[in-house]
Amino acid sequence: MKALVLSGGAGTRLRPITHTSAKQLVPVANKPVLFYGLESIRDAGITDVGIIVGETAAEVEAAVGDGSALGIKATYIPQDAPKGLAHAVLIAKDFLGDEPFVMYLGDNFLLGGITDLVSDFTAGDAAAQILLTKVPNPKQFGIAVLDDKGNVKKLVEKPKDPPSDLALVGVYMFRKEIHEAVRAIKPSARGELEITDAIQWLVDKGLTVKPHLVTGYWKDTGRLEDMLECNRAVLETLEPSNEGTVDSESKLIGRVVVEKGAQIIRSTVSGPAIIGRNTKLIDTYVGPFSAIYHDCLLEKNEIENSIILENTKITNVGRIEGSLVGKEVEISGSHEQPKAHKLMLGDHSKVVINT
Ligand code: G1P
Repeated sequence: MKALVLSGGAGTRLRPITHTSAKQLVPVANKPVLFYGLESIRDAGITDVGIIVGETAAEVEAAVGDGSALGIKATYIPQDAPKGLAHAVLIAKDFLGDEPFVMYLGDNFLLGGITDLVSDFTAGDAAAQILLTKVPNPKQFGIAVLDDKGNVKKLVEKPKDPPSDLALVGVYMFRKEIHEAVRAIKPSARGELEITDAIQWLVDKGLTVKPHLVTGYWKDTGRLEDMLECNRAVLETLEPSNEGTVDSESKLIGRVVVEKGAQIIRSTVSGPAIIGRNTKLIDTYVGPFSAIYHDCLLEKNEIENSIILENTKITNVGRIEGSLVGKEVEISGSHEQPKAHKLMLGDHSKVVINT
């Protein structure tokens, strides 16, 4: 069995972070979201992993390398434009051959892994197995309708008038028939070759498409709120540990991870929270559900329910909540006159100033 992991795409809903970075590399509890997927694949016993890359190929390749650090063998497959999930299967044919494979969307987060799903699929003979979960906003996903026997009857991509609330989770298992399906379908209204249409093609040919209902935590991390929610869910599962230095005037409360080389000086960290490698907190309060990535400096602030990326400096700004701050950002407070905000923000930035 092989794996095909999708790590291309533009990530428009996470701009401006994704102007310069791959959405799959945004860290959740200080680990790129993509790595959770790759680890689940490895834990299911699959090591031969094809990774579809687009515009952010260089960054993804720098992070994953040959895959050995994650216990996999990575093969990169470039996609010239985001032409759809079925297009990714189309261009991966040489890599996949006729072997069964799992397709994993690199921005999807599934707590609990895929080991049981993979063994379930390998034991049976279905042409495809899809993961489904009930969602409150079915217009935003691929949606499935099941027949009386519980098999997949119909699939629709982002329907205006959803026929059910069962959304397709971004993990799929296929046998070789899918290759004929992706060659047979035509681009959708949004100009993409949809995997949903390819699976519908299998159903129409009378092939078995088995559904599996996901009851555990799943998130498509495409938007800020989803990213923060996923971060909260993972932080709650961390084992507290301290590999940094915490001075006598600082306090760690509850589930807190302090990574190697981090320094906590006259500060309080109230978990669940993680403080990254070589990050320095000075006179700062870090509240629940915060993940501060490596090499940051946080001085004289309060930060809660936020994700801060690497090499960022935040000093003297009061309180920050519900935020995602990119790499190498500087935010500082001042008492100079006139009392005005001074901003240099990238395209598509979003700032809320509480006046
Ligand atoms: C894709 C699929 C959709 C699926 C979703 C899961 O949507 O097309 O069927 O429900 O992933 O994350 P996209 O992220 O391309 O909008």
